[in-house]
Amino acid sequence: MVPSQATELGQLKGSMSVLRLAFLFCVAFITYSQLEQLRSLRFWSRSSQLSATRLQANLETCKKLQRRPEDPKGLGRERNGRFVDGTKPTLIRNATVWVGEPAEGTSEEDARAGKGYAWIKTDVFLTSGIIDMHSHAGVDSLPSIRGNEDTNEMSDDITPYVRSWDAIQPLDHQIQVIKSGGVTTSLVLPGSGNNIGGEAFLIKHAVGKQDGRSELSIEDMFADPERNWRYMKMACGENAKRVYGKVGRGPFSRMGESWYFRHAFEEATKLVRDQDDWCAKAEAIGAENMPQYLPEELKWESLGAVLRGQVHVNTHCYTVPDLESFVDHTNEFKFSVRAFHHAHSTFLVPEVLRRAWGNTPASALFADNMYYKAESFVGSEYAGKILWDHGLETVYVSDNPVLNAQHVVFEAAKGYKYGLPYHAALSSVTSIPARLLGMGERLGKVKPGFDADIVVWDSDPLSVGAAPVQVWIDGISQFEDPVELKKPASDPIKPDESLGNIPEDVPVNYKDVVFTGVANVWLSGRATAFGSLNVVVTDGKLSCFGRCEAELRAAAEADVKMVNLKNGALTNGLTAFGSLIGLNDIDAERDTDNGASGGSAFSRALDGLALDSKKLHVANQYGITKAITAPNHSGGISRHGTAVGSLQPHSRRQVWRYPFHLERRRCIKIKLLEAITNSEEKITDPYSEKAFLRKVVKGELALVLSAHSANTLAAIIRLKSDVEKAIADASSSQTHPKLRVAILGGAESHIVAKELGEAEVGVVLAPLLPYSTTWEERRSLTGAPLTNGTAIDALVEAGVVVAIGLYEDWVVRDLALHAGIAYRNSEGRLSEREALDLVSTNVYKLLGIDEPEGRGTTDFVVFDGHPLEIGSRIKAVGLGTSVDVMV
Ligand SMILES: *[C@@H]1O[C@H](CO)[C@@H](O)[C@H](O)[C@H]1NC(C)=O
Ligand SMILES: *[C@@H]1O[C@H](CO)[C@@H](O)[C@H](O)[C@H]1NC(C)=O
Ligand SMILES: *[C@@H]1O[C@H](CO)[C@@H](O)[C@H](O)[C@H]1NC(C)=O
Repeated sequence: MVPSQATELGQLKGSMSVLRLAFLFCVAFITYSQLEQLRSLRFWSRSSQLSATRLQANLETCKKLQRRPEDPKGLGRERNGRFVDGTKPTLIRNATVWVGEPAEGTSEEDARAGKGYAWIKTDVFLTSGIIDMHSHAGVDSLPSIRGNEDTNEMSDDITPYVRSWDAIQPLDHQIQVIKSGGVTTSLVLPGSGNNIGGEAFLIKHAVGKQDGRSELSIEDMFADPERNWRYMKMACGENAKRVYGKVGRGPFSRMGESWYFRHAFEEATKLVRDQDDWCAKAEAIGAENMPQYLPEELKWESLGAVLRGQVHVNTHCYTVPDLESFVDHTNEFKFSVRAFHHAHSTFLVPEVLRRAWGNTPASALFADNMYYKAESFVGSEYAGKILWDHGLETVYVSDNPVLNAQHVVFEAAKGYKYGLPYHAALSSVTSIPARLLGMGERLGKVKPGFDADIVVWDSDPLSVGAAPVQVWIDGISQFEDPVELKKPASDPIKPDESLGNIPEDVPVNYKDVVFTGVANVWLSGRATAFGSLNVVVTDGKLSCFGRCEAELRAAAEADVKMVNLKNGALTNGLTAFGSLIGLNDIDAERDTDNGASGGSAFSRALDGLALDSKKLHVANQYGITKAITAPNHSGGISRHGTAVGSLQPHSRRQVWRYPFHLERRRCIKIKLLEAITNSEEKITDPYSEKAFLRKVVKGELALVLSAHSANTLAAIIRLKSDVEKAIADASSSQTHPKLRVAILGGAESHIVAKELGEAEVGVVLAPLLPYSTTWEERRSLTGAPLTNGTAIDALVEAGVVVAIGLYEDWVVRDLALHAGIAYRNSEGRLSEREALDLVSTNVYKLLGIDEPEGRGTTDFVVFDGHPLEIGSRIKAVGLGTSVDVMV
């Protein structure tokens, strides 16, 4: 500004006031500074420019870091944190209750032996809700499609920082399906693609208002609203190295995996140590005097919590080296493992498990699912029992959707079948997982103080085909209009201790044997017999059943092997259809296959037979005397070529040929029509597809099409009639062959059951109980209490010839039990014999071929116990010229 005359005086006057102003300003400033200094004592630490507020907050965090969680209280808590206000009390009258623990005053030793455990009172079966400690429900929603896939965070091998919580889809229908099997609580784990997969969350299967909750949210599903414990999933073995291993990138081997684990734990250890040092010092000198803030790193926070004992770790490890190196990590870094999952080899190394830091891990197992990959090639259905004998705990899990968790209690039932005491088997899906999850005071028992998660069953939950009638979660009934199957009343299972005797791995072969105590005989071409019968086998042939007095006397004189049964049964040999047994050893290992199939080339299973495999031997021991196997074409049930029926594990002499043509739908119609038009053309290669299709259109060979979707099935029915019309048009005579068509798969077959019946198309259900795993199977019926029956009920009612197939090879052990499920839940549609036909004679019927020679004379199975019930064991299998006896 340029001063002007006029302003000079003013300037002088002005400088006077400026001085005064300056003075006032100084006073104000000093006052302000002093106030500010006082104030800053609260905001800035003395020693530095750090925020005192934040340092104080850090000190609070120290308390959280050092918190030692305890299992939340049940009895004595003011209220269940999950209780929804207004829930009315429910009184279940005259219930038969499985409390989940022995009666008061039972000694530990007696309790272990099962004494003091009992079903109390009569009328309905009532247990606590079932707990599945290994599920991917909600994160691997069904049907599996890419957009639903949130199981593994594959951006890195070590992702302790991701949380299944962030991906659980509460609207995954499978959550409801699982609940319909009595499962009220599941641990939802990230997948096993990573060595450290991330945090898991424990949920209850009550979702939103329709299930009586006050809101629809994932948080509302948390089984422990206070979240006392955290959970984490880790995994060793094949998966991580398969997913991540490339030259230059690891882990490439198990050695690499161990290093990745140890490196991660080292990082977390550093963080924990730095935090503990900070906290100790801040405690001593006051947080405000700390020169730095508390070290925090979100990436390692959850793994730090593992080292602080706040997280229940569940680790997927199959093999001995996996288990042993992981046990080593627990000792090196001082953290504990609640359970090894997929712990196929734990039964071999109890001593190694005992060396784990903190506590001895339990084994979370499937009952009998194995052989699908190299690390599952070692395994035993008796693992639960063997672990029990070593004082180690087993829980049975589903790995849903690997197994349908709706039937996790069936895994426990098979645990009992394979020797685990009854009470231990039931505990393996109730009180044991509850305790391992840190919820042992709230879940897994029917007792005061526990959450009111209750299942009422239509039969003993460990019996074949048991289904809930109603399920309560936190006192709220979960099914508004549950379907209840009409079943004959049954008593609780009387635990059979003799199941604890594990048979030898290798059966003993005899030419001549006598069985006494046979109560039932169901053989092809012979009337059903029952009573107290004897069965005499001479030179591998059934020579007599009935009283057989003379034969028995002769046998006694000749010192023939006698097998005394308590409740024996004699049936046809079982026939497995639709698996790959006889063609490979380990599905996931190409080297165990029978050679490259040449892409889409047409091939014959006969040419690829690989006998003497582990799976064949197991199949044989489980009563499967015939397997009908087609070449693998494009995975799963889609094959292409002619199948072969075979089975004696050792001998090629015993190959039975049942060729049929297995195809996928695409193109087959054109090829069939061509086969009709070109019926005069000379075929030079008798093994070509053309040659076989000509037999198909002549009605000499069955055409088996693999299909699940009702849309595809409808197209197949149309195909059959179109091709038959073309055959009629091309034929000069009045009678012309009908096409023989069968379906392998059939998940949605109930939708077109009537049409399949009318078109005379048979169905091999594979699996018996589908559960919407793929889009093509999405309208599967999962049974009571959710749906009125399953596919088989609709098919049987529509007069369709049905068989039960093997959708995966390990199911060889379960074929008879699957027939049992069909029988128990058929509401009288099937007799016992008809149920057994589902896994033996019906296959031949629907392929239009004669039953194999020797059925009912040299090809038979002897059970002890009812073949359709859980407590049965196969005691002998007829092999043509001799009998294998399990001892
Ligand atoms: C409970 O069972 C008893 C004996 O079996 C019977 O007398 C009583 O009527 C039953 N009560 C109800 C409510 O069904
Ligand atoms: C069947 O073949 C497909 C490829 O044609 C392959 O991906 C799949 O793994 C095979 N399955 C088995 C069990 O061999
Ligand atoms: C279930 O279906 C059968 C026919 O298959 C029918 O008779 C029965 O009434 C149905 N039950 C219910 C509860 O809908």
